[in-house]
This record gives sequence, C-alpha cells and structure tokens, in this order.
Amino acid sequence: MGQDSVSTPRLSFGPEQDGADETPETGTPYAQYVRLETLHSLQHPRSKVDAELSFIITTQVMELLFDLLRHEWTTAQHALREDDLTAAFAALRRGTHVQDVLISSWDLLATMTPGEFTSFREVLGEASGFQSSAFLRLEFMLGNKNASLLEMYQGSPAVHGELTVALHAPSLYDEALALLARRGVAVPHEPGTARYRANEEVEAAWRLIYTDPERAELARLGEALLDTAERVTRWRQRHYSSVKRTMGAKPGTGGSSGLTWLKQSADQDVFPELWTVRSEL
Ligand code: HEM
Repeated sequence: MGQDSVSTPRLSFGPEQDGADETPETGTPYAQYVRLETLHSLQHPRSKVDAELSFIITTQVMELLFDLLRHEWTTAQHALREDDLTAAFAALRRGTHVQDVLISSWDLLATMTPGEFTSFREVLGEASGFQSSAFLRLEFMLGNKNASLLEMYQGSPAVHGELTVALHAPSLYDEALALLARRGVAVPHEPGTARYRANEEVEAAWRLIYTDPERAELARLGEALLDTAERVTRWRQRHYSSVKRTMGAKPGTGGSSGLTWLKQSADQDVFPELWTVRSEL
C-alpha cells in the first residue's frame, strides 16, 4: 500500500466475542469492547429540561474518573510500599493528568444557568455528590478519614464493606511517611482511622528533606505529592464556583449549608505539612 493512500476502516468483522464474565454485548468489536450499549443506556433524565442531560453525563464522567484516579493512587501506594520511587512517580504523574481532566470537567456545567438548574433540581430529591462512595474512597486515600460517613452505606453491604477496609488501610500519605522513615528520616506517625492532622515533627522531617541535597529524591516525592494535593484543592474550588453560579447560597440537596460547607472543605489542605513547610524554606 502506498504511503499516501488512505485506507477506510473495515466494515465487516469476525464472530462476536463473548464477554467471559458478563452479559455479552452485540455489534462491532468496538461496541463489544467498550460495552457501548450498556454505556449509552445509563442516562435517564428525570425531567424534560435539556440541561439535566449534561448534569447527568458530567457526574457520570467524574465518577469514572474517580475510579481511574483510585487505580493510579493504588499503584502509587504499592510502589511506595515496595520502595520503588520510579513507579510511584509514574503513577502519581498519571494521576495528576486524571485530576486535570476532572478539574476541567467543571466546564461542562459552566453554561448551566440558575434558572435551568432550579427547573430540574427537585428531581434530585436528596441525591448529592456528597453520597459518592468513589469520592469517599479517594478521601480516605488522601487521609481525610471519617468513620461516621460509612453510615450512609448501611443499605449497601458491599460498598460499606469496601469502605470499612479502606478506612483501616494506610493512606497514600501514610505510605509516603513510612518510606521516609525507612530511608532514615524520623517521622513519628502511625496510620489510623481518624482524619490526618498536621504534625510538627512531620513538618520538620520535610524541612530536613527539602534542605538536604543528599535527599533530593525524597524532595521530588514531596513535590509529586504536592502536585496531587494542589489538584485536590483546585477540584474543590471549581466545585465551589460551579455551585455559587448555579444555586448561590441555597442549602444543598445532601442536607448541608451548601456554599459555606463547600468552602470549609476547599480550605482544608491535604498532606498539610507539605504546605506549611514552605514558610520555613
Ligand atoms: C452545579 C451542579 C452541582 C451543585 C449545585 C452541587 C452542589 C453540592 C453541594 C451543595 C454539596 C454539599 C453537600 C450537600 O449538601 O449536598 C455538594 C457536595 C459534593 N458534590 Fe456537588 N454539586 C454539583 C455538581 C457535582 C458534580 C457534577 C459532582 C461529580 C460527581 C459533584 C460531587 C460532589 C461531591 C463529591 C461532594 C462532596 C464534596 C466533599 O466532601 O468535599 N457535585 N455538591
């Protein structure tokens, strides 16, 4: 075939491949692989308002990206546990790209007016992203643990069980601090099931790392974690702005005060000592 010829994609295919474990899909190999029929059957607006479809799809896209982020952070945690910083950096880097897409996903809702949102808001009932178990799973990985939130999932034993395991598992930051300790930087920290709180000795450990050229690789780890932390905050800030645009200071469907609650959440830094140490450098 000549280099400048353009070949058209094939239009007929071999036999359908059975999905080994799930309901087989029909159609092109692409449709079967991506499970198109199932994917496109999952959008069910409850109103006749156009903007509701973009609200549903944006939410579904973000849910999928939460799963992908969890995958990357799990890889990063395993790599840290195995003292494999190269693999940890690669996974964290992939994670920051997922986070960037998550942050820009808020653009999909940027054109939704308060009138449009108000006209379908009642169909949400008490539904709120606050109930997202995938998001809570990420929060636990970041060290923002809160056992009382598990109560929401009493009616879903599988989700409840998975989050209980996550609550007791070390966070990404716990794994990073354990690695620092193994590399001779004393950090008085034990993983627990409560929200991670800033600790002066951990800050001192990062100060030592950032000021010692011999520990440049650990400083790179600090910066990679900070890249992640900053994007967590940016996502929360864009959420806050979207909410401010679309419903102002009304209370949330999940029962919170809305904007003030979201602001408080956006103001809490993850991996706190990586932020505070900057005043000391
Ligand atoms: C403009 C549309 C949106 C509005 C007005 C809105 C509003 C709110 C409000 C008021 C809260 C606080 C809890 C409550 O009382 O409900 C909240 C929490 C939350 N929302 Fe949204 N939201 C919107 C879109 C989204 C989307 C698309 C997602 C994607 C999954 C999402 C995910 C979340 C999450 C994860 C929380 C918990 C945040 C945290 O714990 O810091 N929201 N939302």
